[in-house]
Amino acid sequence: MTKWVYIREIGEYVGQEVTLKGWVYNRTDKGKLQFLVIRDGTGFIQAVAFQKELPAEVFQRAASLTQESSVVVTGIVRADPRAPGGYELGITNLEIIQLVQDYPIALKEHGVEFLMANRHLWIRTKRQHAILMVRVEVIRAIRDWLDSHGFVNMDTPILTPAACEGTTTLFETDYFGEPAYLTQSGQLYNEANIMAFGRVYCFGPTFRAEKSKTRRHLTEFWMVEPEIAFCDLYDLMEVEEQFVSYIVQRVLERRARELEVLERDTSRLAKVEPPFPRLSYDGAVELLRKQGFDFRWGEDFGAPHETAISDQFEKPVFVHHYPTQCKAFYMQPEPGRPEVCRSVDLLAPEGYGEIIGGGERIADYELLEQRIREHNLPREAYEWYLDLRRYGTVPHAGFGLGVERTVSWLTGIHHLREAIPFPRMLERIYP
Ligand code: 4AD
Ligand code: MG
Repeated sequence: MTKWVYIREIGEYVGQEVTLKGWVYNRTDKGKLQFLVIRDGTGFIQAVAFQKELPAEVFQRAASLTQESSVVVTGIVRADPRAPGGYELGITNLEIIQLVQDYPIALKEHGVEFLMANRHLWIRTKRQHAILMVRVEVIRAIRDWLDSHGFVNMDTPILTPAACEGTTTLFETDYFGEPAYLTQSGQLYNEANIMAFGRVYCFGPTFRAEKSKTRRHLTEFWMVEPEIAFCDLYDLMEVEEQFVSYIVQRVLERRARELEVLERDTSRLAKVEPPFPRLSYDGAVELLRKQGFDFRWGEDFGAPHETAISDQFEKPVFVHHYPTQCKAFYMQPEPGRPEVCRSVDLLAPEGYGEIIGGGERIADYELLEQRIREHNLPREAYEWYLDLRRYGTVPHAGFGLGVERTVSWLTGIHHLREAIPFPRMLERIYP
């Protein structure tokens, strides 16, 4: 028995005979030569069956292979600079596990609706594989950076009794006869956790019943949310720029091959390092008006506004001090200017828009109580949250970074739906 190896580590076996287990991505028939592209989840490699060197039945099997047939292929590893990936396999034996008939996704252009309905198969393609491996790296980088900068991971609940980010996008579910909601954000629980652990993060799926169809919104998305005790808006921006720069550089370093498959121009990503430009909301409005936008102070930015603002900068840009009226109930107002709050969004370049939302939280008991009233939130559900201001309140801040928005930006894809294995959107819950 020859050794079973993964394509990822094939370079360690040049000149040796190895076995690969995987699927046929593609086959090119050149008569006496069959060129197979084999994939095994860790990579793609060209395997060549040469009629003269193989028993007739083995060559016949190779010549019969169809797209996505599952196979066990044995062969000699050759270094070949012309081969994609740098290595090639000279086939010595081949077993078929299943010969596939009529695979629905051909290696040509298909419509998006068709691909989305076949997402369970679409993820096998080179391009989707590359995007999702960038996602893997983004998630690893997030954890590595936070774990090595004094943050501890504290998981927060998915089923919750109350809203964090406004009541219009709640998914309601029945909790033994009581209404409960899928979490929009772990932030409120993070605020309890920092009073016990100092610096924390939660990382998990979050849910928003977004009724609009845009290329930036999912109904289920992954968010990492760091929260820090004794932290203000300005400290927070420094943490964010370090964190985001690390993620970007780590992906450039470790996922260069995937970004090449995606034909991503990485020249602008290479420049992402601290410090990032900072712009107040007031300044951003002025900038928009100069560009001819008829924009009313007090409104939130839409996608075209965010793009117009971020286009003025090379790197991601912080926009801080949004109007209090367009942000969530927990935002700390600016002392002496309560119509704006100590919030900050980070806008990615190249039209990718907001990837981070966050800011300083209200630390004062009376003010928080007033906001809960003003926002018509059910007080009973927030009693525990008010406790955090009763017993040892401190200034604190935090943020949430959307994984799919970040992956879309780094990979340069058009729509968020390709940045998660099985996207949930308005009008899509299958497969
Ligand atoms: O700005 P948001 O709503 O902020 C919060 O949820 C805060 N509680 C986070 C915190 O301070 N701990 O969301 C944060 C980020 C956005 O910047 C965006 O990247 C992503 O989450 N996001 C979405 N991603 C995909 N689909 C959606 N519908 C999203 N809504 C927000
Ligand atoms: Mg936001």
